[in-house]
Amino acid sequence: MKRSEFIRSLGLSSGALMAFYCMGTLTSCTNEDTPLPQTNPNPNPINNGKVDFTLDLTIIANKALTGNGGFIYNGNIIIARSKSGTFVALSKVCTHEGTTVEYKPATDDFYCPNHGSRYDLNGKVTLSPASLPLKMYMTQYTDATKMLRVYES
Ligand code: FES
Repeated sequence: MKRSEFIRSLGLSSGALMAFYCMGTLTSCTNEDTPLPQTNPNPNPINNGKVDFTLDLTIIANKALTGNGGFIYNGNIIIARSKSGTFVALSKVCTHEGTTVEYKPATDDFYCPNHGSRYDLNGKVTLSPASLPLKMYMTQYTDATKMLRVYES
């Protein structure tokens, strides 16, 4: 017996039947104009051998950058929006042993969860064992279009 036949056998109305379907598969009940989730929306971070990409801050994957204190990763780069709203792009690879660093809004810096190294917003080491800075990239934000370019000069 099909699911719809089973539900009809229970005496449910067509509205109740539709609600039943929507509970299990919400996407099938959305308007066709609703954008689909974007699982890999960000561009390849490398262009012509150099980091140069532009993030669209209107898409879900980059939503963390629409408010101060959020961060995302793209390739080997961590992009954060500091507590003051400044965009910061650094290598995400800890210079100690290569663990992925995180942005910590409470302290407005970058933290390596492996051995506890910390880096400031310029990538400079503020707490060892790391001794070398994280590579820093340029950022350029256009508020009118909500586009953030990350690049190296
Ligand atoms: S790998 Fe980051 S502090 Fe050791």
